[in-house]
Amino acid sequence: MTINRALGTCYYPEHWPHEQWADDARRMAELGLKWVRIGEFAWSQIEPEHGQFELNWLDQVIEILGQHGLKIVLGTPTATPPRWMIDRHPDMLAVDQNGNPRKFGSRRHYCFSHEGYRAECARIVEILAERYGNNLHVAAWQTDNEYGCHDTVLSYSDAAAKAFRTWCEERYGTIEALNEAWGNIFWSMEYNDFDQIDLPNLTVTEANPAHCMAFRRFSSDQVVSFNKLQTEILKRYTNAPIAHNYMGRITEFDHFDVGEDLEIASWDSYPLGFLEDRIDADEQFKHDHSRQGHPDFQAFHHDLYRAVGKGRWWVMEQQPGPVNWAPYNPAPLPGMVRLWTWEAFAHGAESVMYFRWRQAPFAQEQMHSGLLRPDSETAPAFDEASQVAKELADMASDDLVDAKVALVFDYQSVWATDIQPQGMGCHYFDLIFDHYRAARKLGLSIDIVPPNCADLSAYKIVMLPGLVTLSDQLRAALEKFDGLVLAGPRTNTKTQEFSIPTPLPPNLPGLEATIEYAESLRPTVSLALSTRGNFTKWHEKISTTADIVTKTLDGSAAIIRQANTTYVAGWADQEALMFLISGLCAETGVDTQPMPQSVRRRDTAKHSFYFNYGNSPQKVGERTIAPAGVIWTERIST
Ligand code: GAL
Repeated sequence: MTINRALGTCYYPEHWPHEQWADDARRMAELGLKWVRIGEFAWSQIEPEHGQFELNWLDQVIEILGQHGLKIVLGTPTATPPRWMIDRHPDMLAVDQNGNPRKFGSRRHYCFSHEGYRAECARIVEILAERYGNNLHVAAWQTDNEYGCHDTVLSYSDAAAKAFRTWCEERYGTIEALNEAWGNIFWSMEYNDFDQIDLPNLTVTEANPAHCMAFRRFSSDQVVSFNKLQTEILKRYTNAPIAHNYMGRITEFDHFDVGEDLEIASWDSYPLGFLEDRIDADEQFKHDHSRQGHPDFQAFHHDLYRAVGKGRWWVMEQQPGPVNWAPYNPAPLPGMVRLWTWEAFAHGAESVMYFRWRQAPFAQEQMHSGLLRPDSETAPAFDEASQVAKELADMASDDLVDAKVALVFDYQSVWATDIQPQGMGCHYFDLIFDHYRAARKLGLSIDIVPPNCADLSAYKIVMLPGLVTLSDQLRAALEKFDGLVLAGPRTNTKTQEFSIPTPLPPNLPGLEATIEYAESLRPTVSLALSTRGNFTKWHEKISTTADIVTKTLDGSAAIIRQANTTYVAGWADQEALMFLISGLCAETGVDTQPMPQSVRRRDTAKHSFYFNYGNSPQKVGERTIAPAGVIWTERIST
């Protein structure tokens, strides 16, 4: 698949005098930008009062940008319902788990289940689609903005409760079936009627995990149908591709499901904000990477959204300098904006869009940098964007590499460990990220695949740690797979309805093994392994007729192997995982290249890229990469 690369920016023309628009457009074009995203928060300017539309300014700005050769991504403004909307629909606000409505005065203040608000969204999307669907300059659309950001998927409103009851009735058919599926005989939780079912908040102690899982699935489905409402309208009026901008480590809805209705997946990459706000790492590591970000976090999301977008993906918002929302907001090391941009391209991004064109001097994000300062002088990121624009002259396109290693990522497994971690810090996301990091430190290029993946034949190694329920499709694909499988801990441990299955886990094709019990470990306890590294956090007592590859020091099975399947009965640390994965690679002929500290590699079909996320120069072969440096070579074969 050939990727044509481009740069762009996010622009808020409604924040600036009309007279400035032409000059902004000229400077964007001169910088080498090709795309501009506008409109996603502009509802109050488009419709200042209900039914009163002011679209001339939008017509004009689209025309001006277009005249300068810029292509436009037009956002639907549904993440920011104006104040008058709340007067029309006072009960449209989302409700938090303590039962408090979330107020007007920032953004995303809507409940996905509110029918009245959905109808308002359909109305505004249709007005925009009708007017701009065939506009030559509007070359892509974005639905809403960052579904789920600011904890906005789960709403405990009356609208959500009503819709949840209907959802339950459709899924289970009869109340008896629901009681049976959830195990409601326990603690006399049986219902007589669907109307009695409430949302799983404000219970005395923990709610039934099956009830919680049903609510998480329902809430995810509400996001999917909210998005689909918009894409169905847009598709009636335009052939331009539709994207949504997902946000890093927002996992409360299934991004693969939303992606089914989109042509492009995109995500918003704020590496320094994420390091401080969303990543579990020790103080020293955060100190050492505070101006660079985590060396694997962006890459993980790039690979995830390539999967969600079925190959087509963008960075819709790229951090350009200090942001305003993390606990600490340092400036990136000079060179990092260029590095982040090239890293996205190396992973197959079609477009990288800097957020934002000009720093706003007012309101919530006044401390958030842009390509320009509030006085329109250039900020440091401007020159780095300019350098990338020039470099693109020789590197305008490339093909995706055929990755040999696949990692399954599953949103339902995230919800399962949110609901039932069974030990502090035992989160599926971190387990997956640990495997991803270990593989990347070996220089591997990785594909992320969804949990219903039906064809694994492109890969030599497939990893599925923590995948809570093995789907029928994936089971069938594993049965046919002749590469190596790495599973466990916690793989295939629950039924669809959140019970322990019989036969007991892991019950994987071709593996005779039974988990007798699982235990979680406090942070001061770890179990040394007879090969390399340790188990931390989690351990399973497993009995098996398979080969025991590694034992814990008391002699019990820790890592087992039968035919092509390896099962890891605990949470392996980085040393253990790197040892294990490099062994599997050697066995199946996948070349590894252990990375110097904080350097990472990603291949395209033609090139191997190396990125230095560290504070000191590092050598790769004969070449030295400066801190915040990126180099590329002709692809080194793997
Ligand atoms: C994103 C959001 C943008 C802006 C940005 C600031 O999450 O989509 O609108 O708020 O963060 O970093």
